[in-house]
Amino acid sequence: MNRIFSGVQPTGNLHLGNYLGAIRNWVDMQNSFKCIFCVVDLHAITIPQKPEELLQATREVTAAYIACGIDPKTSIIFPQSSVSVHSELAWILGCHTPLGWLNRMTQFKEKSGKHADKSSLGLYGYPVLMAADILGYKATHVPVGEDQKQHLELARDIAGAFNRFYGSEYFPLPEPLIQGAATRIMSLRDGTKKMSKSDESDYSRINLTDNAETIELKFRKAKSDALPGITYDPEHRPEAANLINIYAALAGISRDQVVEKFGNNNFSDFKKALAELAILQLSPITAYMRDLLRDTSYIDSVLKDGAEKADAIAARHMREIKEMVGFLTL
Ligand code: AMP
Ligand code: TRP
Repeated sequence: MNRIFSGVQPTGNLHLGNYLGAIRNWVDMQNSFKCIFCVVDLHAITIPQKPEELLQATREVTAAYIACGIDPKTSIIFPQSSVSVHSELAWILGCHTPLGWLNRMTQFKEKSGKHADKSSLGLYGYPVLMAADILGYKATHVPVGEDQKQHLELARDIAGAFNRFYGSEYFPLPEPLIQGAATRIMSLRDGTKKMSKSDESDYSRINLTDNAETIELKFRKAKSDALPGITYDPEHRPEAANLINIYAALAGISRDQVVEKFGNNNFSDFKKALAELAILQLSPITAYMRDLLRDTSYIDSVLKDGAEKADAIAARHMREIKEMVGFLTL
């Protein structure tokens, strides 16, 4: 049976990259797969978080899932920390993960910066926890943005190492699903940096909670270049390429079609059209999110119900895994 698993960290501002690169693509998958969508709060604390902000962000990501079209009746939505299998399985999988594999992870290098010694064991083990998220449900497909590709490859390697060690085909090797024109949305201030929740400049991203004026202003101020017209040349015109990708993804058309439409325009007109399109698509989501967040009891009930369903699947697998490892299951 095919099963989808994916997650978003409840850390700060959900943005257009999260929407176009991940959440939006999940909506249609609900019709053809069993889907599990997690709010990965255990991952969030690999970087220090304020407790009250973490709690708020967990509800915000849940509201975003629902507002973007994830149906809690069809799909499972739950917070990672409410199912203990994630942490438990991460330990077992960690015992099958050579340090050499972890040392290759570029995201750890980026996040730990020049002070790797001061980073936590949690940040270093982040990809092992991610493998446990996926393998705990024996997920077959994982829809993510481009930045998660390396972590997915590691999850496949860990699944393979476990299977080989115990001489079984227990874990399916999860397939990454990296789809669409928006697998890597870049910062609006620097076309060579990915749009990120943690960028200090709020002008670098469109947040899912931004109102129409803010969206318009951010696109107007977005970095561009002095070359004539709009052409797709990611190497020499990264900012233009990013805006073209965003337009293509929002409109559901190809990059070539965007260039055909706006090739002879100047940036100012193109950005205006882009802002209009973004507002048209995002404002119903933003409004729905706001409505949902007004009454946290509904959100919390969705998470509780999802946690019970997720736990039922993962706990069954965990028993089987413990038996394979040689733990006494009482
Ligand atoms: P995160 O914000 O790191 O929890 O990421 C949640 C999901 O959004 C993952 O599937 C990421 O790959 C995706 N994502 C994050 N940033 C971007 C981006 N700038 N462009 C496309 N996808 C992204
Ligand atoms: N690491 C992912 C990110 O930052 C989030 C994540 C955690 C995830 N566990 C996962 C994504 C399992 C897919 C599957 O984007």
